[in-house]
Amino acid sequence: MRIRTLAAVLAILAAPVLQAQTLLHDGWKFTLGNAADPAADMGSGTEYFNYLTKAASIHNEGPYTTTFDDSSWQEVTVPHDWAATLPSAPEASHSHGYKTIGYKYPECSVGWYRRNFSFSNADRNKRFQIRFDGIFRNSIVWFNGVYLGTEPSGYAVRVVDITPYIDYNGPNVLCVRADATLEEGWFYEGAGIYRNVWLIETPNVHPVAGGIFTVWSDGTLTASAEIENNGGKTASGTVTHRLMDAEGNEVCSASADYELLAGMTGTFPSSMNIADPHLWDIDDPYLYTLQTEISGRTYSTPVGIRVAKFTADNGFYLNGRKVTLKGVNLHQDHAGVGSAIPNGLQEWRVQQLKALGCNAIRSSHNPASQALLDVCDRLGMLVIDENRLMGMTSEHKRLLENLVRWGRQHPSVILWSIGNEEWGLENDERGSRLASEMTSYMMLLDPTRRVTYANAGGTVMVYHTDVAGFNYIKQNNLDRFHYEHPRTPAVGTEETTGCGTRGYYGEPSPTAVPSQNVIEKGWQYYVDRPWAAGLFYWTGFDYRGESNPLSYPAVSSEFGILDYCGFPKDEAWYLLSWWTDVPVLYVTPKNANGTYTVYGNCDEVALKAGGKSLGRKHMPRNGKLVFEAPAKGGKVVATGYVNGRKSITYTLEPTSPAASIQVNTNKRTIRSDGRDVAVLTVQVKDAKGRVVSGANSPLTLSLEGPGRIIGAGNGDPCFDYTGQNVVPAFGGLAQVLVQSSGQTGSLTLTVSSDGLAPGSVTLDIIP
Ligand code: GAL
Repeated sequence: MRIRTLAAVLAILAAPVLQAQTLLHDGWKFTLGNAADPAADMGSGTEYFNYLTKAASIHNEGPYTTTFDDSSWQEVTVPHDWAATLPSAPEASHSHGYKTIGYKYPECSVGWYRRNFSFSNADRNKRFQIRFDGIFRNSIVWFNGVYLGTEPSGYAVRVVDITPYIDYNGPNVLCVRADATLEEGWFYEGAGIYRNVWLIETPNVHPVAGGIFTVWSDGTLTASAEIENNGGKTASGTVTHRLMDAEGNEVCSASADYELLAGMTGTFPSSMNIADPHLWDIDDPYLYTLQTEISGRTYSTPVGIRVAKFTADNGFYLNGRKVTLKGVNLHQDHAGVGSAIPNGLQEWRVQQLKALGCNAIRSSHNPASQALLDVCDRLGMLVIDENRLMGMTSEHKRLLENLVRWGRQHPSVILWSIGNEEWGLENDERGSRLASEMTSYMMLLDPTRRVTYANAGGTVMVYHTDVAGFNYIKQNNLDRFHYEHPRTPAVGTEETTGCGTRGYYGEPSPTAVPSQNVIEKGWQYYVDRPWAAGLFYWTGFDYRGESNPLSYPAVSSEFGILDYCGFPKDEAWYLLSWWTDVPVLYVTPKNANGTYTVYGNCDEVALKAGGKSLGRKHMPRNGKLVFEAPAKGGKVVATGYVNGRKSITYTLEPTSPAASIQVNTNKRTIRSDGRDVAVLTVQVKDAKGRVVSGANSPLTLSLEGPGRIIGAGNGDPCFDYTGQNVVPAFGGLAQVLVQSSGQTGSLTLTVSSDGLAPGSVTLDIIP
């Protein structure tokens, strides 16, 4: 088993050390426990003195003790989702994609993690904290047998200070038990430590995690530092902030004196003038770095300065410019890895959406991970960050505070959402009171951002937030709302896509459904109502669960504009046409109604099929064209015209039988840090090099070199990845996610299938 000393952990940080915050990616051990049988659950809680009755009791023998033998446990890396590779079963939860987890499967619903640490006497004058960005769910944390608390939510960031329990001379063990029996949402949520974990090392007088934040207004940047004094005696000093530009030059600075009694925490703001900052924007996501010095240590915080404003009469403004929100909803879930999305894959997913002209994400229906928000800050993607549970008890308020604390420093976050489609409250006067109270509370926590709620068609609640959020125009009358509430801004928090299986054009079947080709309805509606801020399609990517209208063996949803792997469905060409300036012309194959759908942004399109002209039509702005297909299709040739002149052509022709496999990668080089990932696309091609859209060939994956396959998929709603190395292509495509494993060199993925020339790709792994 791998035991990493603290010195080794800290050595990973590049010099100079600004902030001792280390990703705890490897060194974890994992095993399944049991939600119904304490004896099978490591005997946890069966001891005479259990972990609650006595702290660190020598009578305890469970995994939380340093002496526990975990040699039979599996080595895993974090983020980790143990549900991702469980088998599926028809009687398991439809909403969660039929994985064998939940109350019917107690033996698969509890996961235990352990990680060892070493400290030395030199560490005695420091503070050590562990930051969990999210554990699904109901997670208990122990350090050296001491119970450090339970977090029911699977979406809260949690920081535990382990300093008082450290044994500077002996072994130290961090232990986590997660119980994913109960669902928190109605979509696949994963299980376990599915978000990043950090070790934070500081002096005794230090900023509270997430406690440095900035607000810019009218030429003044106010930087606040929430400081905790763990030094055992009154501490005083100066907190100094330096704002550095992207080239590392100091732009301005400010400082504030602090004095804190032992054990106290206080917030110390100071202001600096920066009248004409380089603004953060979607096309220019400029980030400054705030360097904050407290008690001899410097902490870095990215700062994006932007002005976001929702108006009732002209939608959303970013930096004084009207920006229509071209958004999609997103769950944290991807083919092969489930909810344990490594940072590199988060980035790739956001890049795919940006390429379609998407400028906003709604983190449905829970707070976005820090990793996703970091990517959105860096790439210029706006975010609605959403709360999970509605209510105003101390429990609910704590979660709202958590949402704000970990979202407020991200320039990408432009709006908070207090909830989604609470059917039990939406038409009830209690709902309006609750929405008002929650909105006011959010305003106290963050006066710089507004608050929305995503309404399913209810009549009262939505009017009691700052920005009315509407899920689906088919169940909300926005015109009436605007007439009756002319001073309340509005946004389309959900809107319908085509809801179909990628590449499927037949009649609905138990395993695939064709798209309804209605994506233009939502966008046209919002374009016609510039007083609204824009819309968020349901969804950007397919996700596991809610395979509606299908059911088992279909395990993943069909709502995405991109499938579960991120392969584009036809609707992606609709967005490309009207959300970007890229010249687009695209024809879908003939569907069961005997028509072709044409997406594109030229003025007119002429279509020929099998040599016969089907006519020339004007392309409606923000629309699409439909052509009746002849009984015998054959080769389809579309010609697009702009200002009466030919501008673009598109050919759709039958392919010949599959002949070879090609593997492409999103990057040729990955870092050896054990975390970096490459997204590999496998294409089954015919002799002319065209992707064979009907090919479902079984693909055998073999990887050579220091790396691992962390997941694979193909976008088929019925495909269930459980770690196998044979994955069928679906519609001619498959995806393999490859991660480095700590060593340099090169690694090669070869993909083969009987009768086809194999394909491979080689990646360089650099330090
Ligand atoms: C919406 C809901 C989403 C998803 C979707 C499926 O009403 O907000 O979370 O369930 O329906 O159609």
